[in-house]
Amino acid sequence: MFASKKDIVGIDIGSSAVKIVCLRESRGTFHLEHIGIIPLDAETIVDNTIMDSTVIVDSIQNLLSALKIKSKRVATSVSGHSVIIRKISLPVMSEAELEASIQWEAEQYIPFDISEVNIDFQILGPDAKDPSQMSVMLVAAKKDFVDDYTALFTEAGLDPVVMDIDCFAVENMFDYNYGFVDDEVVALIDLGASATSVSVLRGDSSIFTRDIQTGGNVLSEELQKRLGVSSEDAERAKLGDRDIADVDPDSVDEILSDAIENLAQEIQRSLDFFAATSSDDRISKLYLTGGLSNSVKVREILEERLGIAAERVDPFRNVNIKEKEFDMEYLDAIGPMFSVAAGLAMRKVGDK
Ligand SMILES: Nc1ncnc2c1ncn2[C@@H]1O[C@H](COP(=O)(O)OP(=O)(O)OP(=O)(O)O)[C@@H](O)[C@H]1O
Ligand SMILES: [Mg+2]
Repeated sequence: MFASKKDIVGIDIGSSAVKIVCLRESRGTFHLEHIGIIPLDAETIVDNTIMDSTVIVDSIQNLLSALKIKSKRVATSVSGHSVIIRKISLPVMSEAELEASIQWEAEQYIPFDISEVNIDFQILGPDAKDPSQMSVMLVAAKKDFVDDYTALFTEAGLDPVVMDIDCFAVENMFDYNYGFVDDEVVALIDLGASATSVSVLRGDSSIFTRDIQTGGNVLSEELQKRLGVSSEDAERAKLGDRDIADVDPDSVDEILSDAIENLAQEIQRSLDFFAATSSDDRISKLYLTGGLSNSVKVREILEERLGIAAERVDPFRNVNIKEKEFDMEYLDAIGPMFSVAAGLAMRKVGDK
């Protein structure tokens, strides 16, 4: 069919904000058409659960109308503990054979009833050690969880044509802007408000993923608790403001360092687990996305603790942007928060 490649709106419902990106593709290059963000209160999404769907539906509709976006077709994504991503080993078989047996094969790896999940997979290739076996990336998402997200879009009068997973959208964005290098092992770390996701890639294959249920919110919570300030002041201090009444700037820095160290330790634990389960892949670089990647301190502490160079990812690095239409400085500052939305906007109808 003539599934149009045009007019897919990438919408990322993050726990701190709804983010929208619209791109136009021409001759292999993406051009930025629209970009927008609407913050969400901390109570709107808690623990990956939508507490107030009306607020989200309104935010999506307001953003689309403010940006004058007409397209109804949306690419969106889910993440969190209702989504299981695992690399498993199976006897070598064809795609069709696996399609027929995946339900049965997947059962033992999924902590939910198999009838309650949507299953997807990608064959990664033969096992290095045992050629009779192959590696498969298994993805399972709880149906009721995915349905809740789908319902938001239908309620907003939209058609969710692509339902992705956050970390795969980030990989897609990374591929377009930075490209994969054969056999090079890198880690993409999305540092969000309530979650941190780690994915390790070898060349263009994702070989390890892990979600850590903590993120930027912890920094403000610690500041609020230890300094006894309001959540607004804590948020300002986190973003670099040291001019807050009755607050010693040095103690802000100290509290932030402590909280970031804890987060870095969690990330290190994930990467240690990867190192222990993977033959001899050494991660050569950390690519950071998500709001927290804006913080120089976060980058420095991660580099120091993990002993690996870290770079803040620009999701629009290879995207053509008309300087007359957009504030380039602002785009650069908020860029990392749009990593998921940009990766979604690069999807085509028919993509999984
Ligand atoms: N310069 C900065 N320094 C520190 N933190 C920042 C900075 N800019 C943004 N943040 C933080 O980044 C977080 C928002 O990032 P992002 O938009 O990636 O999260 P999200 O997608 O809404 O959350 P999640 O993916 O966890 O649901 C907030 O906690 C925000 O305070
Ligand atoms: Mg996010």
